[in-house]
Amino acid sequence: MLNVAKLRKDFPVLEENPKLAYLDNAASTLKPKCVIDAVDSYYAKLGVNVHRGVYKLSYLATDAYEEARSKVADFIHADFEEIVFTRGASSALNLVASSYGLSNLKPGDEVITTELEHHSSCMPWLNACNQTGATLKYVPLNKEGRITVEAFQSILTKHTKVVAITYVSNVMGYITPIEEIISLAHQVGAVVVLDAAQAVPHMAVDVKKLDCDFLAFSGHKLCGPTGIGVLYGKKKLLEKMNPIEFGGDMADDVNLNSMTFKDAPYRFETGTPIIAGAIGLGKAIEYVSSIGLDEIAKYEYFLKQKAVEELKKIPNVILYNESAETGIIAFNIEGVHPHDAASVFDNNDVCIRAGHHCAQLIIKWLKTVGTVRASFYFYNTLEDVDKFVQSVKEAQEFFGSL
Ligand code: ALA
Repeated sequence: MLNVAKLRKDFPVLEENPKLAYLDNAASTLKPKCVIDAVDSYYAKLGVNVHRGVYKLSYLATDAYEEARSKVADFIHADFEEIVFTRGASSALNLVASSYGLSNLKPGDEVITTELEHHSSCMPWLNACNQTGATLKYVPLNKEGRITVEAFQSILTKHTKVVAITYVSNVMGYITPIEEIISLAHQVGAVVVLDAAQAVPHMAVDVKKLDCDFLAFSGHKLCGPTGIGVLYGKKKLLEKMNPIEFGGDMADDVNLNSMTFKDAPYRFETGTPIIAGAIGLGKAIEYVSSIGLDEIAKYEYFLKQKAVEELKKIPNVILYNESAETGIIAFNIEGVHPHDAASVFDNNDVCIRAGHHCAQLIIKWLKTVGTVRASFYFYNTLEDVDKFVQSVKEAQEFFGSL
């Protein structure tokens, strides 16, 4: 088991707010002191640009930035040149759709996605299909709201060119059977774009073993800074992709009527890159790795199961994802709008998310207006679970009596 009491001391927000039960980790995690210090140290001791300066401070900043890329690559078992720094998972997924998608799709081609997607995973492909005349198809979900291999196979055809799919749903917390899906997609020559924003912070991910073509995640859901994310792409694919933004150091040769670009990943990092963010993410990866991704996954699931056991005892609670394998709970209290319920949690210093979670398709599939969502991380405790369950009871009692 993790030494949670010790780990909690790494988080200044928890030290400042000892009563806080922070259960909105799927939206963003808290930041440990070592990450804050790494960002601070870049600004305090370096603070200069990378790749351009012909002086020692700039060489040091460049080394720190590129060392962060190495850490990311090692963390997900990618090669160094396969890591593109982006503003977040959303911009990473948009980059693939706007570059690979717009250049490769044509009428008659098919893109497969699902109703479990975060907006950032499906919307870029809805746009790419609208622009190219390709057809967007949705995997029929099973009655639990899961993606199954059989359902995926039922809509896969020789016209499928792209599969844009979530690894772990940000609402339902289900793990997609991605290895089989990737293998089937490759049999028809399609590329697979994985939204791994809810996977990479919570379980060990190996892009080589998965054999995915692209994978995106963000730093701020992994104890890292906001404003930094990662696009992993297979080298042979990134090399052929055009940039979607132009300017700054991504240029190779610029002429009056023509231009060439640096090799990947640099051709995709326009302007001054997110230097402090990358350095902070590198530190966050070191920190989370030192705890252990397998331990984190087990512990979050343990907390989630404890909470679910208690939720099931409360009358009129609608639980949408009881069988989730991760630390996410999606539920409602019958007759209570999720935002109304949220006010009770806030009064008790329990941070949860309420609403559509930027995943309106699954909310519509569930035939509701939104859900309350609790999402755990390794610094949560059984006391947090108790406060959460107590808040559900209070919300149920208060609104139920109206
Ligand atoms: N994608 C984040 C969430 O699910 C913001 O809350």
